[in-house]
Amino acid sequence: MTGNSATTEAPPAVTVLGLGEIGSALASAFLAGGHPTTVWNRTPGKGDDLVARGARRAATVHDAVAANPLVVVSVKGNTAAREILESAGDALAGRALLNLTDGTSTEAKAVAGWAAEQGAEYLHGQIMTIAPGIGHPDSVVFYGGADTLHDRYRSTLRLIGGRGTLVGADAGLPTLYGMAVHGTMWGTLNGFLHAAALLSSEGVEVKRFLEQAGASVSALLSHLPSIADEIDRGEYATPYGGLRHHLPSVDDLVRESRARGVDDGLPDYTRTLVASAIDAGHADDSYSRLVEHFRKR
Ligand SMILES: NC(=O)c1ccc[n+]([C@@H]2O[C@H](COP(=O)([O-])OP(=O)(O)OC[C@H]3O[C@@H](n4cnc5c(N)ncnc54)[C@H](OP(=O)(O)O)[C@@H]3O)[C@@H](O)[C@H]2O)c1
Repeated sequence: MTGNSATTEAPPAVTVLGLGEIGSALASAFLAGGHPTTVWNRTPGKGDDLVARGARRAATVHDAVAANPLVVVSVKGNTAAREILESAGDALAGRALLNLTDGTSTEAKAVAGWAAEQGAEYLHGQIMTIAPGIGHPDSVVFYGGADTLHDRYRSTLRLIGGRGTLVGADAGLPTLYGMAVHGTMWGTLNGFLHAAALLSSEGVEVKRFLEQAGASVSALLSHLPSIADEIDRGEYATPYGGLRHHLPSVDDLVRESRARGVDDGLPDYTRTLVASAIDAGHADDSYSRLVEHFRKR
């Protein structure tokens, strides 16, 4: 089947292993998309609603895997995913395996390597939405694996999230992309929550702050491409806004936090990073220079 023919042929039959929040949503999306769907879950009793809508319930993992060319697994952790797949025995050979189980990149690569030894094709996926977002056109999923496999099931993958992207052939890359997004999210949220604590210590409503200063906050994201460019080139020198200009501002933030009884751990950490880079002779480098701190092993 080619990428073009997949859109005109009948939707391929798919097996879903694991009927937790995500697995159930996946099976539901596949059924809605017209895919003959087989389901299996460790604990019996889950998926009655799916069966009522036409899903076939397999009694064993072996039967579930043997039933269909595409096997999707979504469980808690890659140790569990691997154990389940091992119990499929020789049924895995010749199947296309899509592992949507979260974990580290090393774990994803290990499952990919093991699957290849079993004669299965392998695609790893990192879902970037919660269960209600499965099937939404704006939901993001990162995939890692062979482009031929990704293309073959493109229509099926679109049912998981409309904004699916093959980020590379490496099975570990999707999890790394997911962590990069989450890490950015947590760093940003922590900064915002600290700011909110500072504002509320003065009785300022955070919503009001956003109404008045939201444009300044949003503009920060527009700087990311130039920061990324500096990091990729490894060239941090800047004529304006170097680290020496950041130090007094972050120092003010630390002192203001302390004076208001607001936790100063976050700005103090930032202050330490900036001061160390200046001490090391990088006062006229851009803020992106601090990536070298995070690169240390
Ligand atoms: N929920 C989310 O919003 C979300 C978003 C993105 C990614 N994810 C990822 O998607 C994956 C599934 O998450 P979920 O939220 O659907 O989990 P969940 O609702 O907690 O369900 C967990 C599923 O894993 C199965 N399971 C756990 N350990 C197992 C084992 N040792 N052997 C066999 N089956 C086992 C459970 O089976 P039983 O029913 O038998 O316990 C159940 O089907 C995870 O990797 C999660 O990190 C979740």
